[in-house]
Amino acid sequence: MRITINQIREMKLKGEKITMLTAYDYVTAKIVDEAGIPLILVGDSLGMVVLGYESTIPVTMEEMLHHTKAVMRGTKNALVVGDMPFMTYHISVEDALSNAGRFIQEGGCQAVKLEGGVDVAEKVRRIVQCGIPVMGHIGLTPQSINQLSGHRIQGKSPEAAARLLQDARALEEAGAFAVVLETMPTALSALITQKLNIPTIGIGAGNGCNGQVQVINDILGSFTDFVPKHTKQYAKLTDVIRKAVGDYYAEVKDGSFPTEKQSFKMDESILTDLG
Ligand code: KIV
Repeated sequence: MRITINQIREMKLKGEKITMLTAYDYVTAKIVDEAGIPLILVGDSLGMVVLGYESTIPVTMEEMLHHTKAVMRGTKNALVVGDMPFMTYHISVEDALSNAGRFIQEGGCQAVKLEGGVDVAEKVRRIVQCGIPVMGHIGLTPQSINQLSGHRIQGKSPEAAARLLQDARALEEAGAFAVVLETMPTALSALITQKLNIPTIGIGAGNGCNGQVQVINDILGSFTDFVPKHTKQYAKLTDVIRKAVGDYYAEVKDGSFPTEKQSFKMDESILTDLG
């Protein structure tokens, strides 16, 4: 039985911190699930850390569904959230409903996430009314990177802070089961966390949130084109992979790989007839 949105809500009530990580493929999702992480996000960060796009904007529904299915095959326990890509919920409520439905029906995940506050609240309400749990996402919303003029800290002025609180409340009121708070001052995210009944999941929002989410490639040190200030590298996989690939290259070149251990034997007498 997978983790439910009620269990995630209860974690806030009990004061238990919530851990969330992204995953995009079967192998990684399996490791994350087995580690007991209750929330897995198939983030549209896929576009940057796996597919090599410059931002999340080019990511399509088909790419997201392909990776969501792989994550679902690798997990048994976590609640998996599919991230709705740019322009799949912006044009109309109908679009938002049908694309959220595709995540659940075709992708097989349990919930969707979308970016925005007051402006998307009606869409959140309608998706939730269809029986699909929604996670909100406010603050630095990467799909609006052009409008925000880059990866800037959000909510620093009194007006901007008030707007973010209003956004968070609109999402809660619309039925979101949790909300991601990205790149904002710790004091603001702590205030929003205190004002909401639903859990807040921070990324670059300090330690006052109910939980934390990170992009797995960032914490593993396997994506190093850009290392955000809010991340911590718990490993340096790029170095490990570079060494392994280099050793393989050298051993194939000098003939020391493969050895007998990696090879197969047969009765060679049967080869004599073959000339
Ligand atoms: O796409 C993503 O990985 C995200 C997280 C950074 C919250 O939206």
